Amino acid sequence: MQKYIVKAKRAGKKIGFVPTLGALHEGHLSLIRRARKENDLVVVSIFVNPIQFGPKEDFKKYPRPLAKDRRLAKSAGADVIFNPSAEEMYPSGYQTYVEVGKLAEGLCGAARPGHFRGVATVVAKLFNVVSADKAYFGQKDYQQVQVIKQMVEDLNIPVQVVICPIVREKDGLAMSSRNQYLSPEERISATCLSEALKVAKAMISSGIKDAIKIKKEMRNIIESNLLGRVDYIEIVNAENLEPVQKMQGRVTIALAVFIGKTRLIDNMVIG
Ligand code: PAJ
Repeated sequence: MQKYIVKAKRAGKKIGFVPTLGALHEGHLSLIRRARKENDLVVVSIFVNPIQFGPKEDFKKYPRPLAKDRRLAKSAGADVIFNPSAEEMYPSGYQTYVEVGKLAEGLCGAARPGHFRGVATVVAKLFNVVSADKAYFGQKDYQQVQVIKQMVEDLNIPVQVVICPIVREKDGLAMSSRNQYLSPEERISATCLSEALKVAKAMISSGIKDAIKIKKEMRNIIESNLLGRVDYIEIVNAENLEPVQKMQGRVTIALAVFIGKTRLIDNMVIG
């Protein structure tokens, strides 16, 4: 992969990179299409990164439909699929990790200790392998984007991070590879995340500024849904991810909810 990239760069090609865990859906494909428009060569990585999953999480059962992913990625404009094995990425004796800071502490970081360290480490490795000019990430994983932007700045990684909007199903559910774990009943309940965000937006439009009041109403919506259990509902400063009391400046409303055993996340940036 590295040799191939060196050649492409020598030939003057601009490289766009879309890192993924695979089980591609329209959210991923929107990133690939955008990369296709803005670059000469599009690389998509498909790697279920073991070190970003907690011991009780779904690493083993994470879907790996490689043949289908190849087809989808190609149809969206990918030129190269980088699909390393875990042994190639973390051979025996592997011992170097990216230590992430404050941005990784709250929200999903609190619920998933070690997750962002695993994400930052693999993304740093992938950035070194692919040497992309631009790398594409979805706003769906809002905290991930902030952690990666900070890492790129702190470690002087020469890549431009491009953030792409959340792609949703018709009923508002944010697309996710984990949506396929949902039973038909759970799939219906899963719209409560985007509904709670919609209600929050309406409250803010009507002039309500108190974050506690908005979070309470969002919690009511999730909890009135029998299959939904709140992991967190937070309103944070959109840049530093610190909780805010009052709606002012750019804020992000972010939530994680268990629908049955499946943990889903969603968010919305206001202002
Ligand atoms: P994965 O969950 O496969 O997501 C890959 C990329 O697709 C991420 O940037 C994510 O934000 C984006 N994405 C997922 N669902 C989306 C949606 N509905 N709309 C728009 N973009 C969406 O995120 C990861 O993989 C991993 O942590 C990774 C960065 C690859 C590191 O292992």
